[in-house]
Amino acid sequence: MPEIELHLVVNRQSLTVKVESGCTLLELLRDRLGLTGTKEGCGAGDCGACVVVMDGLAVNACLVLAAQAEGTVVITIEGLAQDDTLHPLQQQFADQWAMQCGFCTPGMLMSCYALLLTNPNPTAGQIREAISGNLCRCGSYQAIVKAVHAAVEINEVHR
Ligand code: FES
Ligand code: FES
Repeated sequence: MPEIELHLVVNRQSLTVKVESGCTLLELLRDRLGLTGTKEGCGAGDCGACVVVMDGLAVNACLVLAAQAEGTVVITIEGLAQDDTLHPLQQQFADQWAMQCGFCTPGMLMSCYALLLTNPNPTAGQIREAISGNLCRCGSYQAIVKAVHAAVEINEVHR
């Protein structure tokens, strides 16, 4: 398969990387860049484990070709914390016990992060809609909604 050269920004770092033309964004992140915080669940757009934020929008990285990320700005779960300080969403997920096994957590956090970029004070319904593409087999949904509200309430959400 032919290779293509891509230029993109991942977690505030400008990158130039060569990938096979059929490579997905998920494969680029996990296999080439070592950013394994983004999970692969179904590989088919059904579970949301692979959600990252691309140009401010939540996307399923398993459904996006790496080539489509040319010139974009991508944030993964590794890019949420800054200077060893957890993002308020991460802190509240921990404080509110919004995870059990944690497999869905990176995707959940990125979907919630994308929501807050455009809607800094969402209702419970809007949070549920934002995570409607994220499956949690452990059933942490209620705690996740609580955690997002708590992150908003402490008024520390940074972007
Ligand atoms: Fe991408 Fe399931 S791994 S949606
Ligand atoms: Fe286990 Fe969500 S915490 S899948």
